[in-house]
Amino acid sequence: MSSFEIVAREDFSDVTYLLEVRHPLMAKAARPGQFVIVMSHEHGERIPLTIADFDRGKGTITLVIQAVGKTTREMQQDCKVGTSLYAVTGPMGIPSHFDKVKKVACVGGGLGVAPIFPHARAFKEAGAYVIGIVGFRTRDLMFWEDKFKACCDEFIVCTDDGSAGIKGMITEGIKQAIKRHPDIDEFVAIGPPIMMKGCAEATRAHKIKTMVSLNPLMVDGTGMCGGCRVKIGNQVKFACVDGPDFDGHQVDFDDLMTRLRRFTAQEKTAVERWSENCRMMNPLKTLEIPHKRPEEELAFPDPFDEVPGG
Ligand SMILES: Cc1cc2nc3c(=O)[nH]c(=O)nc-3n(C[C@H](O)[C@H](O)[C@H](O)COP(=O)(O)OP(=O)(O)OC[C@H]3O[C@@H](n4cnc5c(N)ncnc54)[C@H](O)[C@@H]3O)c2cc1C
Ligand code: FES
Repeated sequence: MSSFEIVAREDFSDVTYLLEVRHPLMAKAARPGQFVIVMSHEHGERIPLTIADFDRGKGTITLVIQAVGKTTREMQQDCKVGTSLYAVTGPMGIPSHFDKVKKVACVGGGLGVAPIFPHARAFKEAGAYVIGIVGFRTRDLMFWEDKFKACCDEFIVCTDDGSAGIKGMITEGIKQAIKRHPDIDEFVAIGPPIMMKGCAEATRAHKIKTMVSLNPLMVDGTGMCGGCRVKIGNQVKFACVDGPDFDGHQVDFDDLMTRLRRFTAQEKTAVERWSENCRMMNPLKTLEIPHKRPEEELAFPDPFDEVPGG
């Protein structure tokens, strides 16, 4: 039996799925804010994924993935309970800090809701008053409400269509939280760059520290290739080893979004080739592969659109 066996899977929507993976050493070492680099099979691409949860007792880590391109769609199709991931490297990145914060707001947009969860839980365990703020396009895309309610003193939901909680973008939730709690020490925001940029702008005037988790393109994940460089104030940093958490008021989000777009043509070709191969291997099976990237729940994968609650 492989150490990276998939022991549970949950599909939150057509494009978002959760994998619980057996990896006792990783579960023991993981800290909130860290990520792993995964290869689903021997010839697969290495992709970075946030450790959305870990259970030291069970020896498992949880990944929440949005199917946006070739690898994440291939994993959506192939990663079933009982199968195994070929390689899981990590934990990578600098763990987040949770001490000395009395009141904190943890903000997650779309898929960013998953990786913000361990932050909310860790702040609670460290004794802070925790306000959870999550944003989705619509109620049907919501997940982990119970998990958040169990560790948040207040929980604010924002949906674009008003089907749950506040109608509007996640910045509405942030404004309300600041109005009710002008003494918030820190915000932590995870989601697509455009959403994290909006969060940082919403807190800037109030001078509230705002940490964000950046998702630039990563290759080696060890600080060697320079692929993940980001501009923080007047410095260049590598998100894989210096982050992924940075001061949101210092991040050059426009540069990040430009760099994320660099390989759009190649990414499109990779999906087309993969779907063509799938059709040839399974001529009788109709593959439902969206030609357009899913526009709901976008937290990491499409950094450019207006995002869920973003
Ligand atoms: C630290 C970090 C944590 C992440 N955590 C998650 C997570 O928990 N869940 C999740 O669904 N996604 C996460 N991502 C994004 C995820 O790595 C990409 O969606 C994935 O690599 C896309 O691969 P693809 O072949 O399916 O799509 P592609 O078509 O190759 O790419 C689609 C888009 O994903 C981004 N991307 C592509 N390759 C990479 C790469 N090597 N590194 C980073 N971004 C890339 C680009 O914006 C690209 O436009 C994270 C990224 C980083 C850097
Ligand atoms: S991924 Fe290569 S330097 Fe960060």
